[in-house]
This record gives sequence, C-alpha cells and structure tokens, in this order.
Amino acid sequence: MNTSDQLEPNIFVIFGGAGDLTSRKLMPALFDLSQSRDIPLHFAIIAVDRVEITEEALRKRLQDDVKKFAHAGKAAAREWHEFSGHIRYLQGDFKGKATYKELSDLCESLEKEWGAKAQRIFYMATPPSLFGEIPTFLGNAGLAADRKCSRIVIEKPIGYDLDSALGLNRTLAGNFEESQIFRIDHYLGKETVQNILAFRFANPLFEPIWNRRYVDYVAITVAEDVGVEHRGGYYDGAGALRDMVQNHLMQLLCLVAMEPMVSFDADEIRNKKVDVLHAVRPIPYDAVHLSTVRGQYDKGWIGGTHVRAYREEDGVPPESNTETFAALRLFVDNWRWQDVPFYLRTGKRLPRQVSEVVIQFRAVPHQSFPLEATLDWQPSRLVMSIQPDEGIVLRFQAKHPGPKMVLQPVDMRFNYRESFATPSPEAYVTLLGDVINNDATLFMRADQVEAAWRLLMPVLDAWKAAPPHDFPNYASGTWGPDATQGLLVQRGHSWPAPVELSTVRK
Ligand code: BG6
Repeated sequence: MNTSDQLEPNIFVIFGGAGDLTSRKLMPALFDLSQSRDIPLHFAIIAVDRVEITEEALRKRLQDDVKKFAHAGKAAAREWHEFSGHIRYLQGDFKGKATYKELSDLCESLEKEWGAKAQRIFYMATPPSLFGEIPTFLGNAGLAADRKCSRIVIEKPIGYDLDSALGLNRTLAGNFEESQIFRIDHYLGKETVQNILAFRFANPLFEPIWNRRYVDYVAITVAEDVGVEHRGGYYDGAGALRDMVQNHLMQLLCLVAMEPMVSFDADEIRNKKVDVLHAVRPIPYDAVHLSTVRGQYDKGWIGGTHVRAYREEDGVPPESNTETFAALRLFVDNWRWQDVPFYLRTGKRLPRQVSEVVIQFRAVPHQSFPLEATLDWQPSRLVMSIQPDEGIVLRFQAKHPGPKMVLQPVDMRFNYRESFATPSPEAYVTLLGDVINNDATLFMRADQVEAAWRLLMPVLDAWKAAPPHDFPNYASGTWGPDATQGLLVQRGHSWPAPVELSTVRK
C-alpha cells in the first residue's frame, strides 16, 4: 500500500453516514487506516444522511463507535481529534437534487482548498432500496462523469434475484463504468480467504493433487451461532440462500475451484473466478429437492443459554417460511473437477461460529497395510480454517509408536496467531484500503454477481413454489436439519466435524 503522502487527495462520501454500517464497520476501518497512515494527507469523509444531527454530535457518536469497534480504538484523544477533523456532515434527502448540488459544491471547495483534484468515492451504506436511485442522482449531478477520479462502492445484497441484479447492474452501468464500480463481499477481505490463493498458487505442493484424481469431495461450512439479531426485518425477506450462499459461499467455492491466474491483475483473477461459476452444473428445477436442504431454527440452547425460535425474533412474522439454513450439493463441470461434489452449508443458530473449507482426499489406490493396522484409518484431509480460528490443518496417517504397524490420523497445524506477530486486519480495513488505492481485485464484477444468481434461481424458484411444511425443522444449537446428512450420505460421504486449531481460543 502507498503511504499518506503518496496517496492522491481523497473525498470519501458515505450515503447512510449516520447509520449502522458506518458506525460498526466503515468509520472504525477508516480510523484504523488513518492510524497506519494508509489514508491520504488530504482526506475528507462526508457523511450524508437524512437525520437531524449536528456535525459535532455525529463526531462524538462515531468516537464511541470507534472505541468499541476499531483495532486501534483505544487511541488517545489527540489521534481521534486529528482524525475527526476529516469528518463533515451533510444533512439531506437521498432523493433530493439539492443534496447532490450541495455535495458537488462541497467537493469542489475541498479541492480548491487542497489545490488539487481529489479521488471521489461514493459509498452506498443505505438500505438496498436506494441502491438504484443514488447512482442515478450522482450521474445526473455530473458527479460520476470523471471516469478516472470517481468510484462507487456498493454493499450486498446486489439484487434480490437475477432480474433485479441485472436491473441494478444496468442502472450502475448507466452512470458509472465497470472499472468505477466496487461491489463489496466482505468475505474477500478476510485474511484467511485471501490465503486460499496464496496457499494454492504460491506453493507447488498441493496444486498437483488439487483435482478429481485425488480429491474425493470438498465441504464448505459457514456456520454462525448468532440468530438474526436486530435484522429480522431485512433477513426475513432474504433468507440464507440470498444472504450468504449467493455471495460469501460462492466466492469461497470460486477460490477453491479456480484455475491458476496468470498474473495478480484484478480482471485476470475475476475472470478465473467467473469461469468456475460458468462451469457449475445448474441444479435442474425438478431435482432441487435432491440437491438442496433448507431449514429454519427453532428455540434451543447455545453455550448454555436458552435462545428463541426464528419465528419469535423481532421483525419476523410468526408464520415465516424463510430459511435460516441452506445446504447444497454442486458439481463443477470441467476437467479438473468433473464428478467431485462440492457441499456447501450455512446457517444461523448452529452450535458454534465456524467457517472452513475442507478438502477431503481419496483413499490410497491400494491398501497394502494389514487389516489390524488400519482400524483407525481415515482419509487425508486439508482444512482451511477461515474463522474464528485462522489457519490450516493437514490430517494424514502416521505410524502409532509401538512394536506393531498401526496407523493413526495425526494433524499438522498452521495457526496464524503462532506464525505471525501481526494480527489479521479486519476485512473492512483491507477493503476500504483497496478502494482508496483503486484496486478492484477483491471486489465482485457484474458478471460474477449475475452468474451466481443464475445458478441459484432454480433453487429459489423451486423453494418458493413448494413452501416447507416442517419449519422450524432444527433446534438452535444443532447442525441443521437431519436431511443435511442425507445430501452427503448418498455418496458415502459425511460432514467433517469442524476443527479447532488450538485449545486456547481467542
Ligand atoms: C453478512 C450477512 O453478509 O455476513 C449476515 O448478511 C452474516 O447475516 C454475516 O451474519 C456474517 O459475516 P461474518 O464476517 O461475521 O462471518
């Protein structure tokens, strides 16, 4: 990354600047970036929002958020004072022309003050219903006109289904060029997710066996122990498939299955990822019930605490049929992966928070050890722990010490915390730093988003056409509906028990 004095002047406009995302993620990340000198010397944050609040009161509120959520949050008053000087508040209606005129004037006056043209970043931290409108207002106000100096950042959900995603991408494209559009999937900012590329393509060791000849199956789990928290209203209109699978799990699948990139160029990597999505075999509408499982959590126990059912959550209708759990079996139809199942599962109120990618290797082609040596035999397995543990575990067979040949699985572990003195940055710190640096590698391109929706449409359509009769069908604190095992058992597989990298947890 460039340091402050090398970075071009920058105006970071946040639509929804008094909202939740700004408080919990954006401002803490910008503060952390400022502490590592990764923001330009000439830098302004313009928070745009409808709420009536003075600039001073907003800064005070943000200071509390930064204390709570930023890595460097315990900073002394002097650091905060310096940083908060960058924050401006612009109260205005997101759908009022006057707001954009005022914004434009403010940007110009800042540039005049700095004596230099600034990079202008427009961040959509608003409800999704405004995603289509703000870009058009920006376009009409001429704020998107300079292709080199302005960019727009948009959060998921990028659409509600394929049609709405196409519509949104069209609106964006009507006002911005693709190179100006940064679509965030915060999973891509996670250190361990980026490490999938480093592990696969910076080491010659595993790539030769990363294919159908040696891999039996791949299992991707993104489990959360939390419920929908305060987001019942949004979540009930989305569900696990839209909220997690369409974006985060699909991105993980792409990184695991993609071909090696020729260079670290943003579009080269994104091309390789989109190739994977194009190769995923669509699930036929009539076979959706054979390749997918959906679930909704009931009340139950998590970590000794009793928790309520999804239908009892705030903002959720008592008869809701929204899924809080989704599992899928997918195939990637290409030379590397033909017939290797990729199992994906995600859910809320599962026993614990754990995200991991498991590569399960095939058995040896010929078992030459005596039967009594292999009683405890298990196939080799590579586990990439995304969170909360961060690292990699390789399980393989070793000879148990003793006079006889007895095989036993053992683990070789790499743990980020033990190997690196530097803690992993929060995903938003990485991603906002990349936006400021104009590096789109970790952001989703329009065609990726659309390809992911295209794959999921038969599932969404079939689930909608046949509402579930058994919801809620898993108790909070369990690994989802029983049928989830069935997805794997059909092929003699089973969900791997999540690993724990160390006994000492963060
Ligand atoms: C968000 C989803 O994209 O990711 C949430 O909308 C989910 O429902 C969250 O809880 C999980 O992110 P993380 O980083 O906590 O795994």
